Amino acid sequence: MVDRDVLVKPEAKRVFVRRMFDGIAGTYDLLNHVLSLGIDIVWRKQTIDKLQPEANWHILDLATGTGDLGFESAKRGTHIDVVGVDLSVPMLRKGVEKNPAKSDTLKFLCGDCEHLPFPNELFDGLTIGFGIRNVANLEPALMEMCRVIKPGGRAAILEFSRPRTPFFRSIYNFYFRSILPIIGRLISRDPSAYHYLYESVMRFPEGPEFCRRLENAGFTQVQAFRLTFGIATIYMAHKN
Ligand SMILES: C[S@@+](CC[C@H](N)C(=O)[O-])C[C@H]1O[C@@H](n2cnc3c(N)ncnc32)[C@H](O)[C@@H]1O
Repeated sequence: MVDRDVLVKPEAKRVFVRRMFDGIAGTYDLLNHVLSLGIDIVWRKQTIDKLQPEANWHILDLATGTGDLGFESAKRGTHIDVVGVDLSVPMLRKGVEKNPAKSDTLKFLCGDCEHLPFPNELFDGLTIGFGIRNVANLEPALMEMCRVIKPGGRAAILEFSRPRTPFFRSIYNFYFRSILPIIGRLISRDPSAYHYLYESVMRFPEGPEFCRRLENAGFTQVQAFRLTFGIATIYMAHKN
């Protein structure tokens, strides 16, 4: 079980989240692919399809973890460079290790989405995959995201959401609440991690509510694209 403070107090959440990802970094990629039956790979590709990175773009991949979304962007065009930022050093280390060509198109940096160490309007594009739900304070993180994007730039945000049809919702709830924690515990040996995953997905302000939060942070032309019966959603947001 997860301490209730983690779900309601930002400072407790930040400490818990960093420790949790530090602890599961070694098995994170495997777990992701096993638990999602590989669909996470397709979702990341679809996210970068929506972003449509252009040649010579500077892209920021926030909560980059082991870098999968950043690597996907870097593959998409010539002279694209990507900076991946994450709170957890062990997650970043895994990303550095798996960079096959040791190419420097993706650079990893330890940092917090709520206080980005970049000047205003530096990046053409921004991505964040399964990360925004984990930040301690949502509004400051969204405002930071908008601040560092150039006018005319865009952000693609991939996050879990909740299916709407009752049939899929009941399968989803059963899988999330009963199956996923068992497999997760077997592979990562952290029982709280998958309880936290369920609780954080249930509490995340998804769909139209998240679109509204993006607009409040300064983004325009916000759109939500639901994937795989609504299990995940890509949010596209522009900066004028
Ligand atoms: C579920 S993983 C996602 C990793 C990767 N983006 C992916 O698609 O697999 C969430 C990541 O968010 C990071 N994270 C959580 N809060 C953060 C924050 N405030 N700033 C930066 N990274 C954060 C965690 O350390 C973790 O690596």
